Amino acid sequence: MISRRAMLLGSAAAGVAGFAPSALGRMPVSRDTLPKSAPVRHLSLSAAEMEVALLGPDRPKTQGFCAYNGTPFLSVRAPMGTRLLVDFENRLPSPTTVHWHGIRVPYLSDGVSPITQAPVPTGGRFSYDVPLPDPGLYFFHPHCDETGQVGRGLFALLIVDDPADARLGFDLEHIIVVKDWRLDDQGRWLPAFTDEGASTAGTFGTVRATNGSVTPPRVEAPAHGDVRLRVIVADSTRTIDLGCETEEAALIAVDGQALTPLPLSRLPDEIWRMGAAMRADVHVRMPGPGEEVKVYDYRTAEPYLLTTLVAVDKGKKKTPFRPKALPAAKVPLPDVKRATKLDFLVQTSAGATAIAPPLPADDPLAKALIDSACVGSKTFWAINRTSWGAGADLRLPPPLQVLKDQESYILSISNVTKHVHPMHLHGHVFRVLSSSKKPGIPPYLADTVLVEPNESVDIAFRANSGNWVFHCHILEHMDSGLMGWFRVA
Ligand code: C2O
Ligand code: CU
Repeated sequence: MISRRAMLLGSAAAGVAGFAPSALGRMPVSRDTLPKSAPVRHLSLSAAEMEVALLGPDRPKTQGFCAYNGTPFLSVRAPMGTRLLVDFENRLPSPTTVHWHGIRVPYLSDGVSPITQAPVPTGGRFSYDVPLPDPGLYFFHPHCDETGQVGRGLFALLIVDDPADARLGFDLEHIIVVKDWRLDDQGRWLPAFTDEGASTAGTFGTVRATNGSVTPPRVEAPAHGDVRLRVIVADSTRTIDLGCETEEAALIAVDGQALTPLPLSRLPDEIWRMGAAMRADVHVRMPGPGEEVKVYDYRTAEPYLLTTLVAVDKGKKKTPFRPKALPAAKVPLPDVKRATKLDFLVQTSAGATAIAPPLPADDPLAKALIDSACVGSKTFWAINRTSWGAGADLRLPPPLQVLKDQESYILSISNVTKHVHPMHLHGHVFRVLSSSKKPGIPPYLADTVLVEPNESVDIAFRANSGNWVFHCHILEHMDSGLMGWFRVA
């Protein structure tokens, strides 16, 4: 199993602690997304195992839960425009790294072994420079044995606040974290990676949970008031169809980035489909006193209740529902007219007839990959006939493409497999331009986009220099080949 291998290789990984991508001498520094004068906050962060009651009260507890700062579902909050300087210590029994999902960090702080850093061995430390130029709900998680470590709970929320949001006057903010657990009935972990799951839709948890609890939350909110729901699929596998039992709900942000409010009632089936790692902000108008709004995942045969919002009388008057528009995002936008178009095929490795040659074994990056424990054990998937190294085939493929700093690109991603793939590009916020299967959804910004079977999705972005991975966020897919990288120089 991956985690076992990671443990065994823990000491080997320590041998590459001196690995510094900057020593390669051929990578420019990523453009800083904040001015040098930005206010700084220090965050001391550790990862360690602990015991948690995941099955509920009076049930056996679960050992070996992985958490940051001893807090399951740790949530870090900072104002937009702040620079987080993170002093990280690994107290897990296996190597790890920290990846700041969706944040436009300099690539050396992106936490991806082996292309931006070596894994942090047990007892090791690493400093991350995390500028927060964009508001929104983000999260951070390991990028080393992700399936195992995230499966056992290792992730934290990162909420970047735009001071301008206060003027919108929401009465309540409620966060919904979708994350299942794979446990037996004694609360012991079942393997997070299975060949059967990794080669199909992924291995699902055995216990569904919202915000860590098997009982969906009931939250009180002012009757006729405005609730900002912030939903994150932190699960490694699950795709949800987010919907609310009310006409008065609108999507106002995707992956933290504002969009022109899109009433859920105007979407096909009145749902917003979210794959692993995706986030959505929804403005819900509360009904009259004593009434409820139920928030569901409608994807399962029986809709799964995520949260119940209960309206309590706080003296608010009923007014017409007007979805609130968040301040417009400030990310660098691509020049779509001048962009270079690149085609990427998401396929099974069986379709990968001509796997491109790996980097030469003496290349420092190839060596770091071989020495790192951050890869899976089997290969099932590929992008454009190239699979990320796994199992006995430990090698770093060449970049999917070498891109030019500050140039605009359109990636046309076609899924020719039978399963959905939430595709994530590191270090950038991209514009989802169009989908062959979902016409009529206006373009929006995101860092992860769901590509369904036989669907083609076009995304556009302005490239920022660095080594950036592009992968499926169903973690077993990523760990079994569905990952590539771009070199932007
Ligand atoms: Cu949240 Cu490379 O991923
Ligand atoms: Cu996938």
